[in-house]
Amino acid sequence: MGEFDDILFGDHEILWIPGPTEMYPEIRAALARPTIGHRSQACKDLMLRCRDKLAPLFGTTQHVLFESVPATALWEAAIRNLVPKRSLHVHCGAFSERWAKVARACGREADEISVPWGQANRPDTLRAKLAESSYDAVCLIHNETATGVTNPLRELASVVREQPDTLVLVDAVTSFSGIPIDFDELGIDLAFASAQKCLALPAGFTVYALSDRALERAATAEGRGWLLDFVRAQEGLSKGESVATPSIPHLYALELQLDRIAAEGLDARYARHQAMATRMRSWAGDRGFAMFSEAGFESDTTSCVAAGDLDVAWFVKELRARGKFISNGYGKLKGQTFRIGHMGDHGEAQLEELLSDMDACLVQRGSPT
Ligand SMILES: Cc1ncc(COP(=O)(O)O)c(C=O)c1O
Repeated sequence: MGEFDDILFGDHEILWIPGPTEMYPEIRAALARPTIGHRSQACKDLMLRCRDKLAPLFGTTQHVLFESVPATALWEAAIRNLVPKRSLHVHCGAFSERWAKVARACGREADEISVPWGQANRPDTLRAKLAESSYDAVCLIHNETATGVTNPLRELASVVREQPDTLVLVDAVTSFSGIPIDFDELGIDLAFASAQKCLALPAGFTVYALSDRALERAATAEGRGWLLDFVRAQEGLSKGESVATPSIPHLYALELQLDRIAAEGLDARYARHQAMATRMRSWAGDRGFAMFSEAGFESDTTSCVAAGDLDVAWFVKELRARGKFISNGYGKLKGQTFRIGHMGDHGEAQLEELLSDMDACLVQRGSPT
């Protein structure tokens, strides 16, 4: 009996939060393989294979990298390597807002445009802002985890590309491998995602892609640090080397997961995420719940549902008693929304099990289902 007994159910509690998410048994087994030396040829080969297998997920033939850090470190690295003076943060919720705070903490001028939470950022507003002032980079969020909004990345990136010297930096943390990114086609300069979201691996590892022009910018940047110096990282990985000792369990599991993703097919994987999101929305509508996210911009990986008069803390607790963990609203939305992360290796059959438990809770509460 241990300290987690109150949250365990059967084998373990099933995570439906927007990351960390469930991991396949084979992935958990890969994490437990004996370690290898990080400077061995086997490790070099493993790193190079992971790099090459990640490229199609970004949609890039440019530079793919990874580091044993959470994605928060990439917010900071993006600023240190790519923003000498000023960044513009286009935000629509708690996570995209935080990137601006990180930029200021790094001593940069961070300007912002925002929309009320629940709405998506608009290309026209961005174009008007860029006409007023110039920036080293525009920081976009693809999928805002706090509000379940997927931004129109293609349109936003294309507005930034109208400015020849402004880089397009994208937080793809809760979209990567669940919603297409099309890095090269959209002219993105940096996109990154941590492993505990749609990649369905443990937290503490981040994958990213860099454009040629981003690397050129980084090469001229002062004070870009050490571990997350993009130039050092790229030169190292081109030879299968890491700046510091990498998380080798993550590399084992990443390669296996990338093979599993290739076997499923990227289009099928995106379609599976879309099908779960569609089902989630129809469940909510049928039960009289509105989606918190603006119509037409609802996420395929993270559903954010307006709770109405449902006691969210009670709902989350009742579901946990049934072995399923969903999220309360984030930050100022706590108690007003609940969020379901249908990402990674979750499928429609498992979602039906969750929805039937959610219905059972609503019946217990006395709501019509
Ligand atoms: C959109 C988004 N960006 C960044 C982060 C931070 O990621 P990490 O916890 O891996 O640092 C999160 C975490 O949930 C997120 O949802």
